[in-house]
Parts: sequence; structure tokens; C-alpha cells
Amino acid sequence: MLSHEDNETLVRIGQGTAMGNVMRRFWMPALLESELAENDGTPVRIRLLGEELVAFRDSQGQIGLLDEHCPHRGSSLALGVNANCGLRCLFHGWKFDVTGQCTDTPAEPEGATLAKAMRVKAYPTRVAGGMIWTYMGPREAEPPFPHFPWFDMPPGHCEAFKVIYECNYAQAIEGAIDSAHAGVLHRESPWGQEAKYPHERDLQPKLEFEYTNYGLRYCAVRKDGDQGHARITQVPLPFWTFIPPDGGNSPAFRRNRILINAFVPRDDESTWHIQFFYDETHPIDRAHRLDEAGTHHDANFFKLVGNKQWYNQDREMMRTTNMSGITGIAAQDHAVSETMGKIADRTKEHLGRSDMAVVAWRRLMLKAARDLAATGSLPQADQAMIDWHKVTAETFVFSMKEQSWKDVMPLPEELHPAISTAA
Ligand code: FES
Ligand SMILES: [Fe+2]
Repeated sequence: MLSHEDNETLVRIGQGTAMGNVMRRFWMPALLESELAENDGTPVRIRLLGEELVAFRDSQGQIGLLDEHCPHRGSSLALGVNANCGLRCLFHGWKFDVTGQCTDTPAEPEGATLAKAMRVKAYPTRVAGGMIWTYMGPREAEPPFPHFPWFDMPPGHCEAFKVIYECNYAQAIEGAIDSAHAGVLHRESPWGQEAKYPHERDLQPKLEFEYTNYGLRYCAVRKDGDQGHARITQVPLPFWTFIPPDGGNSPAFRRNRILINAFVPRDDESTWHIQFFYDETHPIDRAHRLDEAGTHHDANFFKLVGNKQWYNQDREMMRTTNMSGITGIAAQDHAVSETMGKIADRTKEHLGRSDMAVVAWRRLMLKAARDLAATGSLPQADQAMIDWHKVTAETFVFSMKEQSWKDVMPLPEELHPAISTAA
């Protein structure tokens, strides 16, 4: 449970809010690279952190991310002409380049200096891992671009996906920091029938977490006789989760199917759920991943098909096939997070032991917001300084008699937090 005040701090991400300021200190994945495939192609409207923006690729292939509204009288630049290295407003023809500089005001008199002085808000962009990234914070605090392992995959071995969560980012990410739901919500057998997988047999995993210099990591350990099945999930600030593959100790299997989630706030009441699947050993089968997730894209809005039909839940399927009656792992996650309401009221919840990692994450985020407000900087390391190959999401089996999960996968010294607790 959180106080009303802490809940508000956690969820509000608009300009000038404490958590909005935290979000604005990180590079964020924003659009699929494929959304801006062509030079001088159709501009794309995008809402990020409550701001209305327009993205476009100019004649030279450079990507601009500008305030959507023309500084002249506010029309949407998304309707504009994208040609000759700039986006020209449809109303009176003012033109802007990718840096936000106005380069032409054709309806103003010859010799007018208005264009020279005029700028529209513009955010820097980068392309990596199949996404277009941006940084929306103060220019003087812009961090170097981080280097994540999925950027280094050969062609076809990393695929990016994007759908909208119809709720606040915090409850979306809290679903991914909550291993205990895996054996219930995602159970591949009807409730009351024999479980298929170890994580469905032990419904009370022991959760332990550790703060790190990038956020936190936690492990869910499930018992199977003397053996422990461990799943380590990484939770970097401010909205990331690195999910381990399913499977045992086989090295080939362990490196498969790494899933990276980013829950990028669209506004206070909706979230871009961005996923990177990557695999060093096999190409990613895009169609299969969409089937598994249950997130077949609407070509325009990336919304979940069935989102408005109570998740297409099938009662017969609940009796014969799976716990949820909902097809697709991501669709199941969306159903339980979105039905809490657009912004969950955390003053009314009743938390148990299985919520330990969620509580740890909230404390981490609230501390980040307070520290940034008080000192102007975050206690965590700059993402560009971290060797992300060492921040691994892992699944493994170990002897619980002789070891703990931390003996098997100790946190590398360089990833220890600068401070000992996040409280
Ligand atoms: S509103 Fe854009 S040029 Fe006038
Ligand atoms: Fe889930």
C-alpha cells in the first residue's frame, strides 16, 4: 500500500513532475524504426511523457522529433509537407528542420527575420535495435547513448515490438516484476488440474531482491525436491525489465529468447509497451512472437485486438485449456493491469509476501524522484557507463542444500549500488 501522496509521485510523469523529471534523464525507445521507413515519408504523431510530438525522416534520412504544434498558430505539423530537408506546416507554410530551426516563413514579407529567430521544441534521436530513441530531458544533462546487448545481434536476431497499455506505466511494469503470477495467470492448464511446468506447481516462489547501481534485480526460487529453480529478473531504472528465458541448465537453451520490456509512459493514463526479443543462436520469428504474446497489431495504433471486448476471454477455454481463457501472454498481462483502472489506487491494495519485488521497485523509484528533486542528480550510475552484458536475466537449477541463488550468480562488484539501501 502507498499513501495517496506517494502514489501520485509514482504515477505522474508530465513536465515538471518529480517522476517526469526522472524519466527525462534517460534515453527512451520511442518509435519502431519501420514507422519512419522512408526519407520524406509520412510524419508520425506520437505522445510521450504527456507531450504531443511529431516524428519525421527528412530528405537525407535524418530523424526529427518535434513539438507537434506549429509555433505560429498551433496547427499540427503532422499534416505538413515533408520535403527538401524539413517539415512545412500546412497552414501558412512555415518550415522546420530536424533540429527544430525554422528555415522558411513564405507568408511573411521579403526580408522578415522571423524565421531566423523561430524554433520549435526538438528532441535528439538515435536509431538502435530496431527502434528510434529519444532523450527528453535538459540538454545540459543529456547522457551518452547507452549500449545494450541486443544492439549487437546479427540481422534478424533482434526484433522490436510495440503496443499500447491502456493504463499508467507503473502498474504495467509492476506486472512484470511479479513472478508469483506466472503460475496462475499464465498457467497452461485449467485451474484445479495438474500443472504442466515447475513454476505452475510451486505457486509460492521465494522472492529475494538486491539493489544495484542500475536499479534492482530479483530472484524467484521455486522448490522441486532439493533442487531450486531460479529465475533472475533485472529491473533497471526507470521502466525496464529484462525477463529470463524459460528452461533449465542447457547453455544453448539459456541464451534463447531473452525478452526486454520497456514500459515507456505515453501519458499518465497509457503506456507504450515496447519489447525487444533477441537470441544469439537463432533468428527471431516475428509471427510466432506475436502469436505467443497475443498482440496482433492494428496497423495504425498498435492497440491490442480484442482490447475493447473484455480481452476476448473464452470461458470454454478456461475449462479445457488454460487458466485465463485469454490467448497470448502479453494479452493476459494487459488484462490484469488495465482492469485495475487507468491509474491504480494503491491506497486500497493489500500486499502480501509475493509483492516484495514490487514494493522494492516502488521504493527505488520514489527515492530516485526525491533525490533528483533534492540534489539534481540520480543515485544510480549513468546507463552508458554500465556493461549491460553483465546485467543478465537468467534461469537455472541449483542444489538448495549447498547453495543460494546468489552463490550461483553473484552480483558483479562493479554493479553494486553506491548506496546500501533504497529506503
Ligand atoms: S500555423 Fe503553422 S504556419 Fe501558420
Ligand atoms: Fe505476466
